[in-house]
Amino acid sequence: MSRLLTYISLTGSLFFIALSAQADINNGKELHDSNCTSCHISIQGGDGTGIYTRENKRIETYPALIKQVKRCRDSLGMQWPENHINDVVKYLNSNFYKFKE
Ligand code: HEC
Repeated sequence: MSRLLTYISLTGSLFFIALSAQADINNGKELHDSNCTSCHISIQGGDGTGIYTRENKRIETYPALIKQVKRCRDSLGMQWPENHINDVVKYLNSNFYKFKE
């Protein structure tokens, strides 16, 4: 019985973790799409995400991705809390870069 309870609570928390990771990525996509595409479209065209997969892309590691997101955020002159940065980095990584975190 107690095994069953452990199993249920473990599955529940895994489910919760999966859900909250998803929420981060969705929030990151929203933040990204409303703030980050205008310059990138003028560089690479398309919907502004081609810059993340272009042949000569600059970002080769997860820490470099975080740094670049901060740099571009600064060029927008926006004050983003750390969790906005994390959400956007997660979105970019899960959809384009696919680095190991
Ligand atoms: C003011 C214009 C501008 C805005 C706004 C902007 N970027 Fe950028 N971004 C650039 C430029 C220019 C480059 C390319 C730098 C290069 O090629 O050397 C770039 C490159 C990048 C790259 C690296 C692409 C690669 O080569 O792998 C990432 C990641 C990135 N931007 C993320 C963001 C995010 C996230 C936002 C929104 C917070 C954002 N950018 C908003 C101008 C901008």
